[in-house]
Amino acid sequence: MKYLPINNHLFIDNRARFVSIMKEGPLAVFNSNDIMPTNADGLMPFRQNNDLFYLSGIDQEESIVVIFPATKDEKHKEILFLKETSDEIAIWEGAKLTKEGASKVSGIQTVYWLSEFEDVFKELMEETNTVYLNSNEHLRAKVVVETRDARFTKWFEKTYPMHKIEKSAPLSEQLRAVKSETEVELIRFACNITARGFRRILEFIKPGVMEYEIEAEILHEFLCNRSSGHAYSPIIASGFNACVLHYIDNNQKCEDGDVILMDFGAEYANYASDMTRSLPVNGKFTKRQRAVYEAVLSVMKSATQLLVQGTILKEYHVEVGLLMEKELVDLGLITMEDIKSQDEEMPAYKKYFMHGTSHFLGLDVHDVGDWEKPIEAGNVFTCEPGIYIREENLGIRLENDILVTEKGPIDLMGDIPIESDEIEALMSQVPA
Ligand code: GLY
Ligand code: MN
Ligand code: MN
Repeated sequence: MKYLPINNHLFIDNRARFVSIMKEGPLAVFNSNDIMPTNADGLMPFRQNNDLFYLSGIDQEESIVVIFPATKDEKHKEILFLKETSDEIAIWEGAKLTKEGASKVSGIQTVYWLSEFEDVFKELMEETNTVYLNSNEHLRAKVVVETRDARFTKWFEKTYPMHKIEKSAPLSEQLRAVKSETEVELIRFACNITARGFRRILEFIKPGVMEYEIEAEILHEFLCNRSSGHAYSPIIASGFNACVLHYIDNNQKCEDGDVILMDFGAEYANYASDMTRSLPVNGKFTKRQRAVYEAVLSVMKSATQLLVQGTILKEYHVEVGLLMEKELVDLGLITMEDIKSQDEEMPAYKKYFMHGTSHFLGLDVHDVGDWEKPIEAGNVFTCEPGIYIREENLGIRLENDILVTEKGPIDLMGDIPIESDEIEALMSQVPA
């Protein structure tokens, strides 16, 4: 891992929080993610299961965490199962976690090799009738590949047909939505790396540069700062490409007179940051580009102030829609007539602002969290309004990451340049 060691109190506290909302009696099992294949013997880089990481800090494949607060055997209240390393693995892959190392990372005292799992688990199962199992219940997840958790569930149902299953996903969602101080520090760290990437490209962008060259500059800065890389596929979209919401080809030339929309964020210690900036390729906005930019920025500033305790995300989105509506009328893109005759399900503003304004952010970019529940202190959201005018080859989105506190919203990206004048001034500086 490129990131620095994390104080294991984060994971010890997370397990205590999980135990505090478990029913009395059951145990809970969490599986790591698989290392996904590509073709032939190719593999994708490993990315840990976020729930397992949240509860243990273990960032290694073939790991299982068991939490069993009700067991009579003190040493089995928390167990970590690890893949046993070997000389062969050491030669090809290098060091894997030792039992002692894993204990240090996670704060879990009892560590067994994975090969011991079935025997130990059988003993545990005699002490309980119910088991919490994990699944991906993200509303927008399309899970077409069977995860280790899903395979484990199948095995469990076959092996222990008389035991009852509870879902752990609603519990982890509830916990993970409210970030602790350490988690906020990790997200802040990720945001700061993103800031460095942004400052690097401010001087680099000019007419003729390729979108992928910008992507490469950003990645260079990320890796030099202990990030594992992009937290999601970056969008480096110049001109019309900015109007394609999920554009990730990043293979076009940046043309003089265009605006380039860049949506990227560093991942640090599995925590995501998520930022968007839109810059004039030649360093100077046209009058029209500036007007659209200021409209988006104004909505963003007002929307950020609405991210406070007690607000319901759904109502927040309606309010942001009203803010955007006004800006679009002022820009001459929609009329009051359009608004009067609009379908409530598809308001007129959606022609130019088609996506949501905010999502939870954390271990996942589109992090888990309950959209029906009032916003709480400790929630972290993005704030990302945009205006996309296909007929003008112009798309502008601005996005920062916002921490909700008892004292109001804190912009974790508040020091990353965003004002149009500042952007132009920074872009006009000749590199030393
Ligand atoms: N970059 C993903 C998003 O903004 O939601
Ligand atoms: Mn984004
Ligand atoms: Mn986002």
